[in-house]
Amino acid sequence: AVVVRRRMQRTKRWEKAMAIVKDFEEKCGTPTWKLEKVADAMTQEMHAGLAASDSQGAPTMLKMLITYVSNLPSGDEKGLFYALDLGGTNFRVLRVQLGGGAVVNQEVSEVSIPLDLMVGTSEALFDFIAAELAKFVEQEGPEFQLPPGRQRELCFTFSFPVMQSSIASGNLIKWTKGFSIDDAVGQDVVAELTRAMARKGLDMRVSALVNDTVGTLAGGRYSNKDVVAAVILGTGTNAAYVERANAIPKLRGLLPKSGEMVINMEWGTFWSTDLPFTEYDYVLDAESLNPGEQMFEKIISGMYLGEIVRIVLCKMAEEASFFGDIIPPKLKIPFTLRTPDLSAMHHDTSSDLKVVDTKLKNILEISNTSLEMRKVVVQLCNIVATRGARLAAAGILGILIKLGRDKIKDGEKQRTVIALDGGLYEHYAEYRKCLENTLKELLGEEVSESIVIEQSNDGSGIGAALLAASHSQFLEVNKS
Ligand code: GLC
Repeated sequence: AVVVRRRMQRTKRWEKAMAIVKDFEEKCGTPTWKLEKVADAMTQEMHAGLAASDSQGAPTMLKMLITYVSNLPSGDEKGLFYALDLGGTNFRVLRVQLGGGAVVNQEVSEVSIPLDLMVGTSEALFDFIAAELAKFVEQEGPEFQLPPGRQRELCFTFSFPVMQSSIASGNLIKWTKGFSIDDAVGQDVVAELTRAMARKGLDMRVSALVNDTVGTLAGGRYSNKDVVAAVILGTGTNAAYVERANAIPKLRGLLPKSGEMVINMEWGTFWSTDLPFTEYDYVLDAESLNPGEQMFEKIISGMYLGEIVRIVLCKMAEEASFFGDIIPPKLKIPFTLRTPDLSAMHHDTSSDLKVVDTKLKNILEISNTSLEMRKVVVQLCNIVATRGARLAAAGILGILIKLGRDKIKDGEKQRTVIALDGGLYEHYAEYRKCLENTLKELLGEEVSESIVIEQSNDGSGIGAALLAASHSQFLEVNKS
């Protein structure tokens, strides 16, 4: 009788756990009609953001930031330039030798950012950056000496929302992606960096300040003239695109000669009642460093996907004893399950789901899972990745609608290329496939033939160097 009772209890728990999964899956649903509504809402918010405020004069959901990049690289840029890249889990320093049409030489140094610096003081963060840069320059051979009187120039790729006042200055609006350094908010990040470089005795000039999306757009355009937008899917997510200046009411007096301006959308702030939010997403939001903010980013990007799965598993452990009578203690710790782990489990092709087994053991200290349980874990990875990728595709459709490139005009097929970058896109194959298929589904076969997503091959680093070059003060070197 005891055995029978135990078995019944187990069946009941399993059914309860499966009910939680089913409910989660339903709430994460992204049918085509919903994605179309999201895309339309995105387009509408883009219009509002370009006008600076909505029709009632309220601040807009999308910042649609003016980047002061009105000319994308021509390809003629020449010379030695540097780039700093701060914005994800790693910090990079690059040196790029541009040869007018080709990258002659490129060297990169990458370090991960110490966690305490992400939530410390502005001075500590910028001192760290300047010290890494100084180290990089000190190790250079004599072949990189610049002629006397010529200062080294760099592009600072700073991937957070910044209100720019020129191509080489701008105040930080707020932090995202797990950074939280209060005394830097509202400050000019170029001035902060310049002061830190002076403290380290480094003689360099910041000639451009750009978002990673803008660097990727510039790098993408350099290798392909049809690139009109860039999207980042990494720790965070965002997009930038080329807008007609006369479609940007808030530019007011500023009318660039090219008639164009690159806009940094900061689409991570997008929100709509059509977004499939679940109770688990609200748990994640509440425990994050920026509750109520970056809601689109929180269901799409790499920083959060693993955490969503952890929260669902936690509920299954608590309410349906999914992992047995005790709740695995590691499962309760926020951010223990990371998106690369999710990706590894999702792509596990072994018949006994060995990778899932190992990940659960090593990361969450959960052993003795059955194959059935491991299959459920893979199912959760699939639900979360699918929702994120499909919504990212809807965001891209929003941009295409805004540009009038979502349909065939006058029978003419206009080739449109979107540069994509970021670790999530690069390393999570199922996510990438799903995004590409969804975009096809949304555009229809005929239109999707002329719309290409191109993975940028570290385009943002090269793009940054190109922008440093095109905004160099040593013009004779670069104007060919
Ligand atoms: C976050 C930042 C944004 C950046 C994106 C991708 O959304 O706010 O500036 O482009 O992450 O790195």
